[in-house]
Amino acid sequence: MSSLLTDVEPLKQAALADLKAAADLAALENAKGAWIGSHGKFSALLKQLGTLPKEVRPAAGKAINDAKLELEAALAERRTELELKAALPREPTDFTRPGRRRTLGKLHPLTQVTDDIVRAFRKIGFVVADSPEVEDEWHCFDALNTPADHPARDTQDTFYLALSGNDRPTPDRQRLLRTHTSSVQIRVMAKQPPPVRIIAPGRVYRRDNADATHNPTFQQIEGLYVDKGVTVGDLKGTVEFVFKQVLGEDVKLRFRPHYFSYTEPSLEIDFSNPLVKKLGKDWLEIAGCGMVHPQVFENVGYDPEVWSGWAFGFGIERIAMLRYDISDIRLFYENDVRFLRQF
Ligand code: DAH
Repeated sequence: MSSLLTDVEPLKQAALADLKAAADLAALENAKGAWIGSHGKFSALLKQLGTLPKEVRPAAGKAINDAKLELEAALAERRTELELKAALPREPTDFTRPGRRRTLGKLHPLTQVTDDIVRAFRKIGFVVADSPEVEDEWHCFDALNTPADHPARDTQDTFYLALSGNDRPTPDRQRLLRTHTSSVQIRVMAKQPPPVRIIAPGRVYRRDNADATHNPTFQQIEGLYVDKGVTVGDLKGTVEFVFKQVLGEDVKLRFRPHYFSYTEPSLEIDFSNPLVKKLGKDWLEIAGCGMVHPQVFENVGYDPEVWSGWAFGFGIERIAMLRYDISDIRLFYENDVRFLRQF
């Protein structure tokens, strides 16, 4: 009978040895279950207490409980040891090795070029303006003196959005993806009185098939300067300053007469530098510009007798392609990191 009491000590020693020997947390949980879990050996001993004579029961009960407490302490101690072991690195750490550098991403090459152009214009007092890529016909064409039957609309065919409900396709209702950033000119002038000195970088859309030099979406920068007594000389000086800032002092610019419906006179800007020469060309057409047409001023409520101004617009991709020697515009839009990492 009293054998139960004498069993406790050797059982406890065996349990302690078992807990200490557990090599990892899983083994420790097993050992715990076998000895002090609800189906463990010590729980079984407690259940047998009832079979003992009354007078030895308290002593036996105390011995079992004391042993259990001791085992629980041993369990907790071993668990702490094993947890610490699990948290330590498996391989020895070589603290003399160089640190691992986290690679930082970069700005997209088109963003880098845009930022440079914006920075150059900020130096001479221009601020950045923005307006929607989903435009209406009025802001994209009509207000820029390009009515529905104007041939210029054919060369800037774009993506039209479905009209809602019973809407008739009036210019202010018919929505489209803007074909150029010139729409920003109208948005800005309609909202603020002159003078105006803005540049507007942004995405534009055309119904073009993609090839090495065309993409249905691309980036432009628009500039608009409105004040009293503004001249073509101001335009040329400004454009020259900016291109030298962005492409280097050795760039040469040439202004050729051209036609745009929203400027009069209108000019195209060609530029030349060693990179252009490398392409086997003397000049590369880079931008359109001109003095703001009086009708455009009328359309936004500016008095053309009082105010004068110039505007220009050019594509960012062409400048980026030249600067980084990139031969295919589509590369900008494929998001291939092997390409993007180079800039
Ligand atoms: N919007 C023209 C284009 O997309 C570029 C342009 C030409 C903008 C003349 C202007 C301008 O502001 O005055 O080809």
